[in-house]
Parts: sequence; C-alpha cells; structure tokens
Amino acid sequence: MAQAPTAESILAALKDVRDPSAAGGKTLVEAGRLRASLVDGAAKVTVETGGNDDTRATIERAVREALATVAPELGLTVAFVQSVGSREITSEDPLPGVRNLVLVMAGKGGVGKSTVAANLTMGLARAGHRVGLLDADIYGPSVPTMFGVEGRPHSLDGKTIEPLERFGVKLMSIGFLMEDPKAAVVWRGPMLHGALQQFLKDVNWGKLDFLVVDLPPGTGDVALSLSQKVRVTGAVVVTTPQEIALIDVYKAVSMAEKLNIPIVGVVENESYFVCDGCDKKHSIFGSGGGQKIAEFAKAPLLAQLPLDPSVRVWGDQGTPVVQAVPQSKIAQAFGDMAAAVADRVAVMNAERLGTLQITRDGMPTRLPIIR
Ligand SMILES: Nc1ncnc2c1ncn2[C@@H]1O[C@H](COP(=O)(O)OP(=O)(O)O)[C@@H](O)[C@H]1O
Ligand code: SF4
Ligand SMILES: [Mg+2]
Repeated sequence: MAQAPTAESILAALKDVRDPSAAGGKTLVEAGRLRASLVDGAAKVTVETGGNDDTRATIERAVREALATVAPELGLTVAFVQSVGSREITSEDPLPGVRNLVLVMAGKGGVGKSTVAANLTMGLARAGHRVGLLDADIYGPSVPTMFGVEGRPHSLDGKTIEPLERFGVKLMSIGFLMEDPKAAVVWRGPMLHGALQQFLKDVNWGKLDFLVVDLPPGTGDVALSLSQKVRVTGAVVVTTPQEIALIDVYKAVSMAEKLNIPIVGVVENESYFVCDGCDKKHSIFGSGGGQKIAEFAKAPLLAQLPLDPSVRVWGDQGTPVVQAVPQSKIAQAFGDMAAAVADRVAVMNAERLGTLQITRDGMPTRLPIIR
C-alpha cells in the first residue's frame, strides 16, 4: 500500500481473512461480511460473525496482522456485529440488497408503533447493522418529525430515488412526498400501490441488514400489497397492555397469518410507569396484554417498555430516545428490544434454512438438523 490507503485497498489487504466459526469456503470479504471504511484517517473494520469471543479474537488478530504488513502506521478499530442471516431473496425480488424486511404493525393508532419503529431502527444501527426505515404509514407519517428531517428525496440518475439520511440510517417517508405533511391524504388503491412500488423498487436502499417498515395501523392494503411484492422476514406487533386494545391486535395478527407474514414477536408499550420517587412499577393500563397476544401469535414477547415522558419529548425534537440519551434506562429498554429483534430474526432465518440454532454464551451457532 504505497499510496494513501483507501477502503478498497484495506479490503484487498484483508481478502484472505476467514471466520473460523463459519462453514463454507468463502472468506469474510467474499461473503460480504467484512466492511472497511476510513474515518478521520483511521481504518474501521466491521466484521459480521455468529462466532463467540474466541472467534472474534482470532478474527481481530488476523485483521491486525494483515493490515500491519501493508499499512503499519494506520490507526485501526475492529468492531463486530452479530450475523442475522437473510430472508429468502428470489431473482425477481425488488430489494435484492436488503437482507431483512421487518414490518412494524399495530391494531390501532396511538399505541407507539412509530416510536417503536424509530427506536428499533436506531437500536439496530447502533449495534452495527446497516439499517433503513420506510415510513409507509399513509395516514400519519411520522418519520419526518421523529428524525427531524424534511426535504425532498432527489434522484442522481433520473431513475432511482436517493433516500434521505440521518444518524447513519436511510429514511424514506410518504411525508417527504407530500406538499403539506399535515394535510390528510386520500389514497386511492392504484396510487397507494404505485407509491409502495416506488418505495421498494425505485429507492436506492443499497445494501442493508434491516429495512424496518412502519405500517399503517390496522389490517390494511399496505401489508397486503407488500406481501405480494416481496418476501418479508416478519412482523413485530406493537400493543399496549389493556384488554380493550387487544381485539384489534388479534385481527392484525390473523391478517399477518393469512398473508403468510411470520410474527417476529410482540412488543408491549406503555407497560408501566416509574417516577423518580422510587422504583415501584405502576401498571397504569393494566397488565398481561402483550403476553396474551404473544401466546395467540405463538411468538415471543420481546419487550415491555415503560411509559416515560422523555420518549415523547425526544420524539418531538427529532431524535429517537435511543440515539439522544443512550445511557438512560428508557434508551436501554429500547436497545434491549432491538437486540431481541435481531436475535429472533437470526433464529428465524436459520430455521428457514433448515438449520437449528443453539445459543451457547449468547452467540448463535449453526448445526445441520439430523432427520
Ligand atoms: N413508551 C412511551 N412513553 C411515553 N410516550 C410514548 C411512549 N411510546 C409512545 N409515546 C408517545 O405517544 C404518542 C404516540 O406514539 P406514536 O409512536 O406516534 O404512535 P402510533 O405510531 O402507534 O400512532 C407520541 O407522542 C409518542 O411520543
Ligand atoms: S410509589 Fe409510585 S408515585 Fe410514589 S414515589 Fe414510588 S413510583 Fe413514584
Ligand atoms: Mg405512527
């Protein structure tokens, strides 16, 4: 590396590095599981692996040794990200670079669906995944507010639309396309299908580990339209604990089942409230709703999130709480939710391939199923 290093020359130097925990002959670079970038003149190498701490240490040593021989002066950080696998991608898939499509749905509006979608997106991104968020809630797009972005996406080549970007995640919202985002939109079927088609096919999402989709509430056309166009990883169902809210959630879960959309899991929002006086948890809206839905959907209850005023405050200020105050308890609750979603997606993808996943020391390992 006689000249100044570039991301490409770093990748070339690391082309022989392998993951000792992965079956198959591909190197990490060949498998697209090693990424390199230059940040402020130093190299950052991110490696995706399902291996444990020993595996990570072995990979890190190999990366450091390989780079030391070609660019000994270059600063280097090595980061690891959990391997989550991929949904099924056919040759006609409109999103060939998107490994996982996770729909966030709810029975009705106002339960925190968009808040969960925004913090799930940021939680996954902060864990090192490449993430995009598609706001498909035609009745109440909230990504422009929650991420503090406005403006119109443009096209560089006259064919594809560039998503907007904030905090390192790609964003597309029906709100970016409206003359007045506060005005109600009456979508007729063909318009809706056309807009969604564009969001999937014509937006330059690039390579993503997760595309999170904020669906409109209820059982609607958007989920139907999506499930016809693309194979999704699954849906995260958001509910509040109270009994009265559940009937609509059962309907949403049944619709997902009819459309062959697997349920990733259930997130119960506004489960309890804690003030700064003591640690007692007050179940303001009752309890048990999330568990009931999880049992009905035969899927895990992934998180119970507290009611916390800072969620709304940061949401209104355009920074999801996970990003704004990452050390706070509430941000950690949302971060744990994102980690639970990633773990479950990894298991679902492995199961789909007919491989069994066992977790020892928290790291997934793949074994062939013996029939
Ligand atoms: N856990 C929470 N604690 C406090 N406020 C919340 C919480 N979850 C959501 N909110 C607030 O409730 C309102 C509705 O949430 P939103 O995500 O927009 O719901 P939906 O997308 O389901 O209509 C927003 O003002 C949001 O900031
Ligand atoms: S009991 Fe409830 S309201 Fe009273 S200090 Fe504890 S958390 Fe706050
Ligand atoms: Mg919303």
